[in-house]
Amino acid sequence: MKKVWPTKAAMEQVYAKKLWGGDDAGFYSGVGSHDPELVTPYITTVIAFLKSFKTPLVVCDLGCGDFNIGKQLVQHTAKYIGVDIVTDLIAHNRGKFKAENLEFHCLDIAVDDLPSGDCAVVRQVLQHLSNAEIQSILNTLTDFKYVILTEHVPEGDFEPNKDMISGQGIRLKKQSGLHIVAPPFNFKVKEEKQLLSVALNDGKGVITTTLYTLF
Ligand SMILES: C[S@@+](CC[C@H](N)C(=O)[O-])C[C@H]1O[C@@H](n2cnc3c(N)ncnc32)[C@H](O)[C@@H]1O
Repeated sequence: MKKVWPTKAAMEQVYAKKLWGGDDAGFYSGVGSHDPELVTPYITTVIAFLKSFKTPLVVCDLGCGDFNIGKQLVQHTAKYIGVDIVTDLIAHNRGKFKAENLEFHCLDIAVDDLPSGDCAVVRQVLQHLSNAEIQSILNTLTDFKYVILTEHVPEGDFEPNKDMISGQGIRLKKQSGLHIVAPPFNFKVKEEKQLLSVALNDGKGVITTTLYTLF
């Protein structure tokens, strides 16, 4: 039988063995966190959203990874809280990224209580998790007013939300991708608005970013 790794151990192994790439001693969260074709439009779009508020938002970046994304958003928020399950990664981020309105927490977002905030940023995190963990996370995301969710999904039509084991891989290998308002999650939102969709040049995948406004 295939060994099922607890998610923390699986994510630690991904970083230790550089399964998402990277060649130096540091942490690397994958090409999706570094390719300018993906990062630049994302940052531009999210900054525009954050700047549309008179009173800056408190943002929780759930699964913040190596923080190449988050570091570009901090200055546009009242407070920015980076959260990740990998202990050494969070320790590394604490040493590397400093701002008065920035803090880091090591938490399992499927299990632990989340810091409170106005907006959750969840970028290419849920795509790596099982449906059971996604359901637990969705149960706590209802505490936020806004959720900005980024997912790697197949191009064109696909059957959403096929289950998988948490880890390095994603649903694409099953011709599936996450859509939280579809069964079995049926996540209830006031509004769903696609902010961005960038096709990858492999002809197979799309990175979509959706803004969910909650009740
Ligand atoms: C592909 S990386 C994306 C990092 C970052 N959001 C970005 O877009 O650059 C996914 C991150 O989610 C984290 N993660 C996965 N499951 C988690 C969980 N249950 N709780 C907290 N972090 C988790 C991993 O450790 C990893 O750093």
